[in-house]
Amino acid sequence: MTTHGDDPGLVTLALRLDAIRRAADGIHLLEFVRPDGAPLPPFTAGAHVDLHLPGGLVRQYSLCNPPHETHRWELGVKRDAASRGGSRWLHEDLRVGSQLQVGLPRNHFPLHEDAASSVLIAGGIGITPLACMAQRLQALGRPFALHYGVRQRQDAALLDRIDASALRLHVDAEHGGAPLDVARVIAQAPAEAHLYCCGPGPMLDAFEAAARAQGRPADRVHLERFAPVQPAAVGGGYTVRLARAQQEVEVPAGQTILEALRLHGIEVPASCEQGICGTCETRVLSGTPDHRDSLLSDEERSSNRVMMICCSGSRDPLLVLDL
Ligand code: FES
Repeated sequence: MTTHGDDPGLVTLALRLDAIRRAADGIHLLEFVRPDGAPLPPFTAGAHVDLHLPGGLVRQYSLCNPPHETHRWELGVKRDAASRGGSRWLHEDLRVGSQLQVGLPRNHFPLHEDAASSVLIAGGIGITPLACMAQRLQALGRPFALHYGVRQRQDAALLDRIDASALRLHVDAEHGGAPLDVARVIAQAPAEAHLYCCGPGPMLDAFEAAARAQGRPADRVHLERFAPVQPAAVGGGYTVRLARAQQEVEVPAGQTILEALRLHGIEVPASCEQGICGTCETRVLSGTPDHRDSLLSDEERSSNRVMMICCSGSRDPLLVLDL
């Protein structure tokens, strides 16, 4: 086990890639195990891990095997045509038997296991955390439905993991190209249901809008994004005071807080640098952040007690952080 600083999110394990399986067109399932065969740390449904790749790249992937399994971590990786190196390397260069540093599981998309009913809505590779949730709900014997939208039938992954009675597959090509009607799924969901969505941006936007329009309580509406919804705050023109380090850093126009800190030689844990993974979450002691992340709830944002410094800025001339 390797520890970088005191953040548990930065603890990594050297794991061996034990298998690569084709799950669908352009989607591989990567199965990691401990080289000594020992059990892996536990995880909860909806969790993801950081894969540390060559060149200092760190990429997040959701765990898609059932959480009761301790002998392996299975990740679904879609080959992204616009890959900055991560998914392309994982698809083309990674070989069975290779070792990678893998972060401990973290979960910003937890499953409410005691819900009376759960409705899971997946689009494309967004199936990975929801397949994990579905397998957990199946193991618990809890009622759920999984609505899964794909462009073509050969894009659908992990179908064999889901009870056929709970699975509703929507293939756009078989409906004249029309995507899954998320608003209708929500309208038909039981009133007490917890709603979960993971998929492409337009699906998530439709999910959020429909849940709000239909008056679904915010504490029963959950989503996970793979891409940022807003650009980073790079207006600059404010000061960040690091309370513990007793240091002040000016953030100029064109830089994020994270970038400004790095330029002053201050290393802060970060991974996605897009406001979607939570690695850089930092406590705010005073000042008002300009939140740009895709993770915090409305309540967390308005409390202004934490922020993601890789993408969020400051609305005040001085922001005091617990760093
Ligand atoms: S580094 Fe991922 S949210 Fe900031």
